[in-house]
Amino acid sequence: MELKDKIDLNRLPKHIAIIMDGNGRWAKQQGKERIFGHQNGVESVRDTTEAAAELGVKFLTLYAFSTENWNRPKPEVQALMSLLVESIRNELPELHKNSIRLQAIGNLQMLPPRAYERLMEAIEDTKDNNRMTLVLALSYSAKWELIQAVKNIAKDVQSGDLNIDDINEQLISDGLTTKGIPDPELLIRTSGETRVSNFLLWQIAYAELYFTEVFWPDFRKKDLYQAILNFQQRERRFGMTSEQLLSDNGKV
Ligand code: FPP
Repeated sequence: MELKDKIDLNRLPKHIAIIMDGNGRWAKQQGKERIFGHQNGVESVRDTTEAAAELGVKFLTLYAFSTENWNRPKPEVQALMSLLVESIRNELPELHKNSIRLQAIGNLQMLPPRAYERLMEAIEDTKDNNRMTLVLALSYSAKWELIQAVKNIAKDVQSGDLNIDDINEQLISDGLTTKGIPDPELLIRTSGETRVSNFLLWQIAYAELYFTEVFWPDFRKKDLYQAILNFQQRERRFGMTSEQLLSDNGKV
């Protein structure tokens, strides 16, 4: 039985988020520049996106560039931005073929104008695709996003448009860049690092975390299947007991 066939399609995570890590180390292992790792990481993005869409996952969020990544050496930042612009252009036919809609979260105004324009064009161009939404986190950090949300809420309170007692989970969720996107149920990080690194901190409150030693440029469909199978073996209790869960499902 193939790995893919072991997946229960009725219990797929609706939203998978991935911290793509290890590009630099992968390249270094081969005596190459870090950018070589990023270039090869594009193939992993393609393979993983296709696998998720084929299975029926509805949202896939990829951490492509953090606000902290701006502090990397200038040539690496420039190379990453060029790669992004190039990839978005090259992947458009594939996105359409699989009916994938592109979205982006993060401080997008920070992107170089060319990258920003390409991104906006691709988002507009794919807006009617409805099989899966691919969300690119670009110049993104969860703390940045939470600060924006808090500022906007404070402004509404100050102006009298919002009562403090009306601040609730939904209001905060709606103030984040992920508004309208369900929270990820599965968060994957590659390369053996076991940190969350300022990614979707609010949204992953109940996500299952999955860490793999595989470096991102080596990540392929089978690795995604493995992560989903691992997810399906876990019991998600949301603070309840196993017994409660079972009786809620009518099994007890
Ligand atoms: C982390 O590896 C990876 C990144 C910061 C960039 C990810 C970008 C891509 C895969 C390329 C293009 C993306 C899209 C969406 C088309 P790292 O450099 O931190 O690796 P290291 O931890 O080994 O140094």
